[in-house]
Amino acid sequence: MQSRAVRPYLSVALFALVVAASTGSFLRFGLGWGMPAWATNFTAIRHAHSHLMYFGWATLALMALMWHFLSGYTGRALPPGVHWQMRLTSFMAVLSFPAFWINGYGLTQIGSVSLPLGAIASTFNGFTWFYFAWLYRRESSYLRQRPLPVQLWDWAILLLLLSSGGALGLVGMVAAGIQSPFFQQTFLHLFLDLFGVGWFTVALLGLFWAWLGQRAELPRRLPVVPLALAIAPAFFLGVAPALVPTPLFWVAAVANGLAGLLIFWHVAALLQGWMYLSWLMRFGVALLTVHGLTALVVLWPGVWAWSGDTQLRIYFLHNLLLGWVSSTLLALVMDQLGLGKSQWLPWLGWIWIGGVGVMLLALLGLGMLQFVPFSALFLLRVAAWSTPALVGVAGAVWLLSLRRGRAGTSSRTTHNAPQNS
Ligand code: HEM
Repeated sequence: MQSRAVRPYLSVALFALVVAASTGSFLRFGLGWGMPAWATNFTAIRHAHSHLMYFGWATLALMALMWHFLSGYTGRALPPGVHWQMRLTSFMAVLSFPAFWINGYGLTQIGSVSLPLGAIASTFNGFTWFYFAWLYRRESSYLRQRPLPVQLWDWAILLLLLSSGGALGLVGMVAAGIQSPFFQQTFLHLFLDLFGVGWFTVALLGLFWAWLGQRAELPRRLPVVPLALAIAPAFFLGVAPALVPTPLFWVAAVANGLAGLLIFWHVAALLQGWMYLSWLMRFGVALLTVHGLTALVVLWPGVWAWSGDTQLRIYFLHNLLLGWVSSTLLALVMDQLGLGKSQWLPWLGWIWIGGVGVMLLALLGLGMLQFVPFSALFLLRVAAWSTPALVGVAGAVWLLSLRRGRAGTSSRTTHNAPQNS
């Protein structure tokens, strides 16, 4: 697939990033100064933010870049089915935002019926991922051997399918009216955490290696299957400590610690190609290292149970999803869109790094309130003021992507003109 072919989907992904980041910024200001009267359902708006980030930004951008690199490996133009799948995934992802904004996973009265709009949106998004997985299997079957990035994508997609079982479980509980805190939390974190750590991290590592493989030789041995298997049970650490039996905690914590060590292996190998990486990519890799370190810290007896009573979960999630996943993905998307030559690019990268850095420090402070000399309100407000920079960068990259798309279209038209005339 020509790089041009995935541009529209990357633009939709960037648009989703702009909307979801603006919503996150709105929530952060709401936490610092109070939510306005017209937006009191904080939980529903938080769901709208997190699901658009998951379905619209990260998943769509990962899929678009995977299709691009995969067609490079197979040497085949991708069939129309791929474009149908990407259009459907884009449409469903964007639709999830209003669906969750109204009532989150709750019921919404429409005429005489009560509908779980968020759950319905999740289910239809899930269908388009199954379609993606099926098309991926078919297209990748043309490969005579599976290079490292493809092996990582194979396992990332398996984790995506496994984690979508969590979303379906949540939907099933709503539909059947089952109320069990253990299963509710297990399904929620099977989806939230395995999706974020498993699908995002493993797929993104594959993209990173595919990108680096065009510039340098790939390492001969890197862990793929052990990494995926170690990540799989770690989602139980997201469940509230009071609900997790001790043996289950240790299985999850040891697997998570092992995943942390295997991530260090990838990081060490990535460091060999350090000179090829932009500062934004280096920042992403640094925060992936922090994620690996966190996995080891959790093995310390008592730390996990203690952290359950703090705000560290939000810090942990954003270190991974914003710090590692979004910074690296944004850098790869900008490269793919050919924005590298834009004079604004280095500035945008540094503004992003500054905004994410301040926000993560404030969230870490909020998680460790008893050890820092600042009030919660002060830290909430610092976190809030870090967010306009992120919205601004996302907006600028989105606009640049549209301009680039138009320039591509007009240069194509000009290029084709003599032939047509
Ligand atoms: C652009 C910067 C971002 C801002 C300003 C932001 C803001 C927020 C806020 C205010 C919350 C609620 C915190 C609380 O309840 O105390 C939140 C939760 C969350 N965010 Fe973000 N966020 C950002 C980026 C991201 C990204 C990139 C992702 C995923 C790719 C993400 C996924 C989540 C998730 C999964 C939750 C928890 C949802 C839940 O527990 O229901 N966020 N975010």
